[in-house]
Amino acid sequence: MKGFTLPGDLLLGSATAATQIEGGDEYVNWYAWSLQGKVGKGESSLTGADHWNRFREDIGLMAGMGHQCYRMSIEWSRIEPQRGRWSAEGIARYREELSLLREKNILPLVTLHHFSCPQWFQERGGWTSKGAVEDFLNFSRKAVESLGDLVNEWCTINEPNVFANDTYMDGKYPPGRRNDLASYFRASRNLILAHLDCYEMIHRVRKERGFPGETRVGMVHHLAWFESSRPGIRPRLGKALVTRLFQTLYFEGMVKGRLMLPLGLGHPRGKGIFCDFIGVNYYSRHLISRFGDIFFDPALNEEETTDLGWEIFPEGLGNVVRACWNRYKLPVYITENGLADESDGKRATFIRDHLRQLKELRDEGIPVMRYYHWSLMDNLEWNDGYGPKFGLVEIDYSTMERKIRPSGRYYAQICKSHFVKEDTHADIEN
Ligand code: FCB
Repeated sequence: MKGFTLPGDLLLGSATAATQIEGGDEYVNWYAWSLQGKVGKGESSLTGADHWNRFREDIGLMAGMGHQCYRMSIEWSRIEPQRGRWSAEGIARYREELSLLREKNILPLVTLHHFSCPQWFQERGGWTSKGAVEDFLNFSRKAVESLGDLVNEWCTINEPNVFANDTYMDGKYPPGRRNDLASYFRASRNLILAHLDCYEMIHRVRKERGFPGETRVGMVHHLAWFESSRPGIRPRLGKALVTRLFQTLYFEGMVKGRLMLPLGLGHPRGKGIFCDFIGVNYYSRHLISRFGDIFFDPALNEEETTDLGWEIFPEGLGNVVRACWNRYKLPVYITENGLADESDGKRATFIRDHLRQLKELRDEGIPVMRYYHWSLMDNLEWNDGYGPKFGLVEIDYSTMERKIRPSGRYYAQICKSHFVKEDTHADIEN
């Protein structure tokens, strides 16, 4: 049979984030944002996929699909719904979920900040406020103290670049500011400092308490593959500018603890390496104009794009990982990679072709150690609402019934065998 084999120590699984699937939380800032009509077509974050109540069923699905690892996030507002008030119920619920994952031999990777915060934190000024880092650290410490025996792999902040951009420049995430560069930079600086402090804290707390397993802490970066829109010096300069503002600032800050202008100068927490792995979220290739505008190639046809119009460009995954490795020499986790594909006509091929990139990277000796497909199930695609379908598992929102898509079954065969069949339709019913 035609295909290729992935190394056995490359763990395969899927990823989600709390706000996108849990539902039912009135303390998270995305709920107030939904009430303002800013989510999809008047949709609500309260819906989610009811994972808060159905997590046992969802873990059963993962186990059945042969997942070896799972990236999830913890909702800050579930742990600290009001400032300084800890929710024993929220903590107990996450303990149950994490214990079940462990029981099923699915290694959890837990993200502390994935685009959401409690409404109280936002009302105090969110990531631009003076107390932001301290508030986030308090929550994170509580999370690690109360869940850290079950979790040895942590992501601090998900995609600080996308988060800061969509919150303070594009106005898509609450509180929806536009072209507010000062806030973009202040928040970015705070996110970097929060990562550095969390890195130290997670290692310290797990060590002090003697929690089992090797502690691994990383940041998760959105790395699109950037290309200049056409030859010439000006598009090249546009690309250099975007790369610095959107990628390098965060990398240097979170990996090396180094602040670059305009965020600051020097090493506020000392020199060192503040990541045990680099989390790469890869979706697409973007073109960049001489003005620094980021866009998709207008000449693309339907086969080359996802339901959201994002270009399908597997080589970009290899390119961004190679660039990371050459610069930082740290193990890489592919913390997100996937597509919106309601008809499920492209997902299996997408998975195969992106995994082929990982096989090549491993053959070159680059330690890519995890692949988390985005996403386990259909979910709330932030301001775009429930329209885009990213799931290996389809959700029927009228009944909350779960159904594994054919591509989910194809991926399950890969997870179980580490063999990637060339023919994405083969044995799909099994
Ligand atoms: C990433 C986000 C994730 C999801 C995917 C499609 O930027 O981290 O939550 O929305 O995009």
